[in-house]
Amino acid sequence: MALFRAAISGRILKSSTVVGARSMSSWWQSVEPAPKDPILGVTEAFLADPSPDKVNVGVGAYRDDNGKPVVLDCVREAERRIAGGFNMEYLPMGGSVNMIEESLKLAYGENSDLIKDKRIGAIQSLSGTGACRIFADFQKRFCPDSQIFIPVPTWSNHHNIWRDANVTQKTYRYYHPESKGLDFTGMMDDIKNAPNGSFFLLHACAHNPTGVDPTEEQWKEISHQLKVKGHFAFFDMAYQGFASGNTVKDAKAIQIFIEDGHQVGCAQSYAKNMGLYGQRIGCLSVVCDDDKQAVAVKSQLQQLARPMYSNPPVHGALIVSTILGDPELKKLWLGEVKGMADRIIGMRTALRENLENLGSSLSWEHITNQIGMFCYSGMTPDQVDRLTKEFHIYMTRNGRISMAGVTTGNVGYLANAIHEVTK
Ligand code: LMR
Repeated sequence: MALFRAAISGRILKSSTVVGARSMSSWWQSVEPAPKDPILGVTEAFLADPSPDKVNVGVGAYRDDNGKPVVLDCVREAERRIAGGFNMEYLPMGGSVNMIEESLKLAYGENSDLIKDKRIGAIQSLSGTGACRIFADFQKRFCPDSQIFIPVPTWSNHHNIWRDANVTQKTYRYYHPESKGLDFTGMMDDIKNAPNGSFFLLHACAHNPTGVDPTEEQWKEISHQLKVKGHFAFFDMAYQGFASGNTVKDAKAIQIFIEDGHQVGCAQSYAKNMGLYGQRIGCLSVVCDDDKQAVAVKSQLQQLARPMYSNPPVHGALIVSTILGDPELKKLWLGEVKGMADRIIGMRTALRENLENLGSSLSWEHITNQIGMFCYSGMTPDQVDRLTKEFHIYMTRNGRISMAGVTTGNVGYLANAIHEVTK
């Protein structure tokens, strides 16, 4: 302690005697402003634009047909039911047991043997990002020399997450720019050529940013090949329900892998499918050999969370467990998820038709072929910059359009602007 005090006072003495008050700023002198986030930075730019014409199709956040954020009826009802009826105590380190149980049913199936046999180690997470980050840290801690294979392209934050967990990143081919569809051959080759026992990050459904998913048959081949190579599949399932409008169908890839005997990991998020963006609520799960291993894995996942944020917040967990734990509310929710997915599908058709009616010589078929929240338009960064400068349309520079921000009111304006910059 004495040594510590001496060191501290020595530092203060040194800095004040040498350069006086200016030294106070010297601690962070070398800190440069961080680059803008490629997705959330778009929202910042949109908010700063005073133009009445501005359109935000950047961030993947659902809007109604008036362009307004939506709070689902099932969420409002759950909030009404829980209001005032719970205390503000800490949740257990691993989060809400009810919320986790319901989440596992959603990901692995209502009657999953893995759940019955307690073979899944799982914790409540800070939405999908938090789940991915805890998993990345878990991977680094228990498989320190492993790498993660990430699709090209992927959600930009995946790179940050595994970078900050100090896991080496490799890529695998996923998107085929010419066909604007899946590069299945490239993907399979990269799976085959990766060192045995590698980690693969897979988007369970509604791939972000491309809106391109493997077919069921292709998932079966992917699963088979990963098994042959002894790879580990980690699913990021941020959009369950948004691909097909049906949460069971959207979990099909996970089902296929489980049937093949994989021990997958899975990140779930309720940001999109329950509209609980700011609640930061999700689930991280890891399939294990048996119940004993699952208990051990869960304890280690909690252990990783403890020094970061101790334990997760309670409110979002209560909303989710109230909705999923009540058959009536769950039914209402499933209908609302389908409603959101259907509105987006309608906007895909409208955007494509508008572009075709404007006489665009390009093919816009991929707008309706792709699924989920995003359209990977094929526009170049320069074309996107023109959309922003000339038309106040905000989107990520990789050409991704968040179809959730397209409405009957702005689809004509958007189509016209896209037509102008792609002529
Ligand atoms: C997106 O891709 O737009 C969303 O997942 C929001 C985010 O955090 O990037």
